[in-house]
Amino acid sequence: MKIFVDTAKIEEIKEAESWGILDGVTTNPSLIKKAVESAGEGVSLEEYIKDILRTVDGPVSLEVISTTMEGMITEAEVLYDKFNGINNNVVIKVPVNTSMEPGDDDFAGIKATKVLSEKGIPVNSTLIMTPNQALMAAKAGADYVSPFVGRIDDHIRNRIGLKGGVDYPKGTYYPEELAVRVWEKKLETAIHEQKIDDIVYRDHNIMRMFDWANDDGFFSGVDMLWSIKQIYDRYGFDTEIIAASIRTDRQVRQCAEMGVDIATIPFPVIENMMTHIKTSQGMKAFCDDVIPEYKAILWGKDFEKA
Ligand code: E4P
Repeated sequence: MKIFVDTAKIEEIKEAESWGILDGVTTNPSLIKKAVESAGEGVSLEEYIKDILRTVDGPVSLEVISTTMEGMITEAEVLYDKFNGINNNVVIKVPVNTSMEPGDDDFAGIKATKVLSEKGIPVNSTLIMTPNQALMAAKAGADYVSPFVGRIDDHIRNRIGLKGGVDYPKGTYYPEELAVRVWEKKLETAIHEQKIDDIVYRDHNIMRMFDWANDDGFFSGVDMLWSIKQIYDRYGFDTEIIAASIRTDRQVRQCAEMGVDIATIPFPVIENMMTHIKTSQGMKAFCDDVIPEYKAILWGKDFEKA
């Protein structure tokens, strides 16, 4: 599995690069904002982006900001023309659907994806929340899709109904098993109270009848990712899956187990991937047990001074 770092902070990108584990970078407008704020005043964003591109010998996603097809295509061309010459590694992130309110255009993102891919500009189709969106993006020619694992978990957590509307801090553990248990319990209660007919016919949508604690049948973002992987494998799409919106190192492991092409991971989560309490304790025990003779071999007779 390739590892991308999900940040625009140059110091994090350089650090991950120095470990030999970095295959690419994803940014978005929120990550650029954070990076520029932490870099302080007087930073040239153009030079900053060029520095990122030079640091990584792998794809770097830069996102468009318009919501119309024409706007996104123009911005993609501006970004590509300005920056791809630096290290030939620019990928344009295009939201799969830019609509924000009912009635907005649902198809500007997919149309822009088609046009850009025909022009040979690589697209990372972002804000993917369903396998159907991923299927459409692949068919429209996206080189990458970015399903948002953590945000689906947040959405389901709010549907568990214990604390609806809570903003869960990034990095907190998502109890998928609890979501499954809540769903089963509510179903049992509904059956017991003979409310099933009401639920089934409430909105004439059988998939949505059991909205509690799941999203269209998925109990976690990782479930949604797995479904995309199945569909892509089944039809042999070339589009690479970038597991995005990763919150914990456990999610990274689940991505690797299912054979996802890429995970784009926030830097603190990449750091966590290296730690275990028993590794630290083992290290301490080895250091405590080193005998002077062994130190002398390794460090020479004057090791005390070393
Ligand atoms: C990367 O492609 C996404 O923009 C990013 O992973 C979103 O992560 P978040 O849900 O933690 O903001």
